[in-house]
Amino acid sequence: MILDTTSSRQSAETPKKPQNQETMTLTEHLAAIRQAGNLSSASGAGREFPFGSNDFERVRRLIYAKAGISLSPSKQDMVYSRLSRRLRATGKKAFAEYLELLEHSREAAEWEHFVNALTTNLTSFFREPHHFPILAEYLRKIAPAQKQINIWCCAASTGEEPYSIAMTVADTFMTDRSAPEVSIFCSDLDTNVLATAAKGAYSPDRTEKIPPEQLKRYFVKGMGTQEGMYCARPELRRMMTFQRLNLLDPVWAVRGPLDVIFCRNVMIYFDKATQYKILARFVPLMRPDGLLCAGHSESFLHAADLFQSLGKTVYKPVNKSGKR
Ligand SMILES: C[S@@+](CC[C@H](N)C(=O)[O-])C[C@H]1O[C@@H](n2cnc3c(N)ncnc32)[C@H](O)[C@@H]1O
Repeated sequence: MILDTTSSRQSAETPKKPQNQETMTLTEHLAAIRQAGNLSSASGAGREFPFGSNDFERVRRLIYAKAGISLSPSKQDMVYSRLSRRLRATGKKAFAEYLELLEHSREAAEWEHFVNALTTNLTSFFREPHHFPILAEYLRKIAPAQKQINIWCCAASTGEEPYSIAMTVADTFMTDRSAPEVSIFCSDLDTNVLATAAKGAYSPDRTEKIPPEQLKRYFVKGMGTQEGMYCARPELRRMMTFQRLNLLDPVWAVRGPLDVIFCRNVMIYFDKATQYKILARFVPLMRPDGLLCAGHSESFLHAADLFQSLGKTVYKPVNKSGKR
């Protein structure tokens, strides 16, 4: 959680200013209006659509129920700006009207737009790079005993993470003629980002984090509609399959046993109870010595009965039998 240190410092160190209109700053004035009218900052003057804190609470409840995403109160402006587009697209004049449509809609399509609008998809090639040499070393270790290696990238976003995994796999087994088959199952809740991932075409600014030799080895310059883009080569793409999957869904179309799960920078959007339920469902899908890679700010210590930390935000399932 990001704390507003300026305001806490002020209340601890300086007496509060008298709250009348002459002495208030603009921010204090807006905060006072918000408090009085129970309205969010997004409802400030100049906003296109009325958006009260009741609307925000309703959005919070809906996205939590649908995707497990816990929105903090600081996300009001983000919610306003992202969902305003949906109000325009559906011709609604107020959030209350849009949310009414959504709640009573039998159409899956608007729910999909709603969920897609509220996900945060930040990613990059070789993000949190320490995981990739760990992955390579693990693949080398397990390869001699396996014909098939299964990897699940469960919050694949626009694809930079699974293609980084695929490049690591390809580099690891480049000269190994007896290398096992590797399959990388790439899933995400958001259908828009997943469509981008499945295309595997990236603009030069997105590929800056790929070392030049790997870019040359695994990407080709696009032509026609993909002119100016770098397109992943078939060597990478044939390992990968893409499918929408909501980690909250009661059934997952994931084929085990899984050797590695990349579950990075998605659990931070869930509360601990939701994280625990998901982690508990990972365990039976994984090989006993499988690896689970988490994001830099994610810790699964609250699920120490399920996963044991190997350091560097890498975990393995707890061995319940006590055997090594
Ligand atoms: C910040 S991105 C992380 C992308 C990538 N794993 C990385 O670390 O670079 C989080 C992703 O989680 C996805 N997501 C959010 N809630 C989800 C859910 N309930 N099930 C599956 N994916 C979800 C979002 O759509 C988004 O693409």
